[in-house]
Amino acid sequence: MIKNKTMDKLVSLCKRRGFIFPSSDIYGGLEATNDYGPLGIELKNNIKSLWWRDMVTSRKDIVGMDASIFMNSKVWEASGHVNEFHDPLVDCKNCKSRFREDHIDLNKNCPDCGIRDWTNPKQFNLMLKTQYGPSEESSSTIYLRPETAQGIFVNFLNVINSSRMKPPFGIAQIGKAFRNEITTGNFLFRSREFEQMEMEFFVKPDETSEWLEYWKNFRFDWYKTLGIDGKKLRLRSHKNNELAHYAAACYDVEYEFPFGWSELEGIADRGVYDLKQHSQHSGKKLTWFDSITNKHIMPAVVESSAGVDRTVLTVLSDAYHEEKVNGEERILLKLHPRIAPIKVAIFPLINKNELPEIADNIIKELTKNFSTFYDSTGSIGKRYRRQDEAGTPYGITVDYDTLNDSSITVRHRDNMNQERISIDSISKYLADHINKVE
Ligand code: GAP
Repeated sequence: MIKNKTMDKLVSLCKRRGFIFPSSDIYGGLEATNDYGPLGIELKNNIKSLWWRDMVTSRKDIVGMDASIFMNSKVWEASGHVNEFHDPLVDCKNCKSRFREDHIDLNKNCPDCGIRDWTNPKQFNLMLKTQYGPSEESSSTIYLRPETAQGIFVNFLNVINSSRMKPPFGIAQIGKAFRNEITTGNFLFRSREFEQMEMEFFVKPDETSEWLEYWKNFRFDWYKTLGIDGKKLRLRSHKNNELAHYAAACYDVEYEFPFGWSELEGIADRGVYDLKQHSQHSGKKLTWFDSITNKHIMPAVVESSAGVDRTVLTVLSDAYHEEKVNGEERILLKLHPRIAPIKVAIFPLINKNELPEIADNIIKELTKNFSTFYDSTGSIGKRYRRQDEAGTPYGITVDYDTLNDSSITVRHRDNMNQERISIDSISKYLADHINKVE
């Protein structure tokens, strides 16, 4: 449920412009699930590609992988999720609404019915189950993974044996995770199906604290490269009573959303917890042979665990702006050009006199390197406003002067400044600007 005015406006823009739709919309939706539309998927893919570039392909010390969502149930027994992955739940005895105990004040009345009559808190396991196999009799119950991390831990040996990585090194993956959350909401913030970008960094145990320090700073700075306002980002250290069952220490990267400061990513010291558990439960020796000391060591793990959907929500919240222009409201998404779904929109001023053909030729050239959008309907002012809401950083107008001097107008989304450049220089102009903007 969204109770925040700014969030309401953002949700409405996301639907209007095709970023995010409620899932199963024509059937009334399904609580806490969302579908990414044409612009949303481009934005999400841009974020994932930048993460993959910065965490995997541009580094020598991290490799990627993609594990199955379905895993042997023993994985979740070993990882502790079957016994420990709980949230405290309370019910309102009057209206039967359910809440996470740590999300409400039990000394106050139920926010849904206004009566104070709570059950005692009980532990609720967050894992979703399904039947695996063709018939109910022969199938077995398995879990939908609640984090992608375990797919990495159970492949530790496969990766070191095949890629000859040695500590300090990391394994990264991006993928869906599922949690039967007690309370969902705030749009993309907490849902039951979401995507994670996780990286497990394997280090010698006595080097854990220096790597935790390194990763918490690296990951904090990464969000600024997406164009997010640094004043709305902070790092927060977990108190002992907040730590997950596997973590010895943890920092959260938090963002100041319209509904308050909340977690974007956790950077945790998982120690040897996971490899030790899987070693004991599988009977396999999950160690690395250090040929210098001639010893087998079990590496400790520093984890960076980020939410794709929360990052999407962050960049959208951060980019949302309203302003008055000549007495009229202008809504725009000041998305960083690197993540904007459409980099450039092309507008023939009118739909005749060769202007559409010239615009078509420009599009053909630009689509080789940029995501583009062609719009020839409505007044030019209306076309600009539609692209402002889509977060498109540059607009190109082909007009009558183009016929004489082969120049076009480039309009900048944020300050609405316009400049005249030649058609030949557009590609270079855009490449320079998209890469230059801080
Ligand atoms: N492997 C560690 C782990 O999963 P977590 O703090 O439970 O740690 C990591 O989750 C990140 O996954 C969170 O910081 C958040 O960005 C995202 N996340 C977790 N639960 C979520 C949910 N229900 N909806 C959307 N994103 C979620």
